[in-house]
Amino acid sequence: MISSLKSKPNGSPKPLPHSMVRGQWPTALAPMQDVTALPFMKVVARRGSPDFFFTEFFRVHAHSKLDDEILSSITENPTEQPVFAQLIGENIEDLKRTVCDFQDYSIAGIDLNLGCPAPRVFKKNVGGGLLRSPKQIFEILKMLREEVVGLLSVKMRIGFEDDRYFDELMEVMIESNIDLLSLHARTVLGGYRSTPSYSHVTKAVEALPCPVLLNGNVTSFNSAVDLKELTGAHGVMIGRSAIRNPWIFRQIREIQARDTIFQPTLADVYHYIEDLYDSLEKPEVDERKNVNRMKKFLNFIGLSVDADGKFLHQMRRAQTRKELFYICDTHLIQSGRCDEFLNIEPYDGLVARPSSESGYSRCKLG
Ligand SMILES: Cc1cc2nc3c(=O)[nH]c(=O)nc-3n(C[C@H](O)[C@H](O)[C@H](O)COP(=O)(O)O)c2cc1C
Repeated sequence: MISSLKSKPNGSPKPLPHSMVRGQWPTALAPMQDVTALPFMKVVARRGSPDFFFTEFFRVHAHSKLDDEILSSITENPTEQPVFAQLIGENIEDLKRTVCDFQDYSIAGIDLNLGCPAPRVFKKNVGGGLLRSPKQIFEILKMLREEVVGLLSVKMRIGFEDDRYFDELMEVMIESNIDLLSLHARTVLGGYRSTPSYSHVTKAVEALPCPVLLNGNVTSFNSAVDLKELTGAHGVMIGRSAIRNPWIFRQIREIQARDTIFQPTLADVYHYIEDLYDSLEKPEVDERKNVNRMKKFLNFIGLSVDADGKFLHQMRRAQTRKELFYICDTHLIQSGRCDEFLNIEPYDGLVARPSSESGYSRCKLG
């Protein structure tokens, strides 16, 4: 028990906004830097919105201002679904100022990032780096609890190198009276590939009075249901698998309602890729750069296209839009497979390039 945690939490967690279908448990699109910006939100929304969105993180430091591009995912939110604004930082005064900056914006709440694994981030003792200092997290959350008018949410991993502070961190969450915890069931040093420790999600669910969203390797509507049941989590947060299968949120609603589950075909995937390109394309930017940006998304989509990974191999070599779509057309349409269903899980043995998980590590923190 850390020394400052003497008082009882004041009040109980505020209720979360309703799910799209009343009575169903909620889904959230995980915040992903360089991915979950407004264009991707729109593309996902056209295929079935999650219940909650989280912005890419707003960097908070002495000279930070709200980033206009990230702000557009709040001001131009194409859906009725609430958006949480995610912050990454550690200085109390800077965080307080940033929370104030949000007062005129329509957000569901503020989410504190306690999970970013990029060394250049955690070395500054922000994101996942803060998980080594429960007391400092407590001080930050105490201030946030006082300042945040809407919901106060935390997205964290289970620890830095191991779970030595996990129980203490749970106490911090209780004492800070947060309204929502999204728990990525890995340590910071576990990156994106280590086996998730879902027993920590169960522990969090049992310990906390607020809802817990399970995060980490929810790969399909089946795994969403299984993992929710296994852990008792309130709902699930999905990142990479929503890039691979943007219909996943709709499918989770359908399975909960016992409706027929929509199964996208490879032709649907082709149209998704077209939609993505058109939405992400920046005409002022070199074509090659636009193509390279697409590859980040295709790295995940390709995991479900063919078992031998030929699509991934070829698309990584494309340099122009024409080449890229020729490859997509060959694999998804001309192959005669266009009516085949997208593989619900990634094919065994295929992996996304680590660089596609590192949008996160290229970020600058001021
Ligand atoms: C490209 C990329 C960018 C990410 N950016 C963020 C971020 O800005 N904030 C955050 O809290 N987590 C970020 N994450 C972590 C995800 O939100 C999520 O916790 C992680 O991918 C595990 O969930 P998944 O297995 O469903 O992908 C990022 C992950 C990826 C792959």
